[in-house]
Amino acid sequence: MINKIGILTSGGDAPGMNACIRDVTRYAIQKGLAVEGIVRGYEGLLSHETMPLDRRAVGAIIHRGGTLLRTARCLDFIKKDVQQKAAEYLRTLEIDALVVVGGDGSMKGAQGLSRFGIPTVTIPGTIDNDMMGTQYTIGFDTSVNTVLESVNKIRDTAFSHDRVAVVEVMGRHAGWIALHSGMASGAEAVLIPEHPVDLKSLCEHLEESHRMKKMSSIVIVAEGAAKGSDVVDYIREHTYLSPNLTVLGYVQRGGSPSALDGIMAGLYSQKAVDSLLAGNYNCVIGLIDSKVVATPYTEADKFHFSIDENMFDLVHMLGR
Ligand code: ADP
Ligand code: F6P
Repeated sequence: MINKIGILTSGGDAPGMNACIRDVTRYAIQKGLAVEGIVRGYEGLLSHETMPLDRRAVGAIIHRGGTLLRTARCLDFIKKDVQQKAAEYLRTLEIDALVVVGGDGSMKGAQGLSRFGIPTVTIPGTIDNDMMGTQYTIGFDTSVNTVLESVNKIRDTAFSHDRVAVVEVMGRHAGWIALHSGMASGAEAVLIPEHPVDLKSLCEHLEESHRMKKMSSIVIVAEGAAKGSDVVDYIREHTYLSPNLTVLGYVQRGGSPSALDGIMAGLYSQKAVDSLLAGNYNCVIGLIDSKVVATPYTEADKFHFSIDENMFDLVHMLGR
């Protein structure tokens, strides 16, 4: 029987994590549970940093980026003996189950804890949108909108100076942010880790556009596909065009969550608590075919969603 749950945020912060902390806390309290916040992700389970959460403790955070509970990358947590100690600590706090908000790595940590007898559920929270078991991760929409806003501004300068603006965005292993922001902003090209990077054809594409009187272009590069600076150097060396670089960096992880991220945080939080109460443990919450579902960790890899190839082709077709 579950009387008390813990919640932690882990991995890279994402807009909407605070909304999850608020929504899980308030929904769980409504269902008669007590809630304890674990500070700094798995690190807090080792350093014993926790804070009780009640309705008021999570007030006025729904619109804030980052995470009230802080987050961390705790490399030691891959070790089984460390996971066992963390599970024992949770038991001393009389925490019966844990909600983890984070990406794929955080989910593996949650799975580790579940092997030592702590029921867990993972809510997908990462701007990268690259998790198994879901088509949507909290933070992605906000991040894409942040990139869109920046690219719209960068385009003003690119247009005025007849330049090729290369914009490097986040995504070490996945091109979701690059592709979706490229589509939304009308980029001429996107480079993503899911496709081999061919700088020679990129240059041909840009020169062809230029010959068609397109005097400026936007190229969005996911950090996992190429370094923006290498792309700029290549274009400068191999064309007559005038490229420049903007690396967007951490602006993409901060800021108020978009409406979509706020809404998904609420729906995922409800499903997470309901799953625990129904004894449906050790699963990842996610959106699959427009339904909020809970998939066992052991089956999550059957639901691996790749980028939309049609969208990739369309960006390049329209950006001529
Ligand atoms: P994300 O959760 O966004 O994918 P990371 O990959 O950095 O971010 O993972 C966050 C944290 O999850 C790590 O710092 C570590 O504490 C934990 N973690 C990652 N991989 C594993 C693993 N294989 N086993 C146990 N814990 C892990
Ligand atoms: O949050 C996801 C992400 O931004 C990735 O796109 C990136 O590879 C990574 O986190 C970088 O995070 P940090 O600088 O905190 O290691």
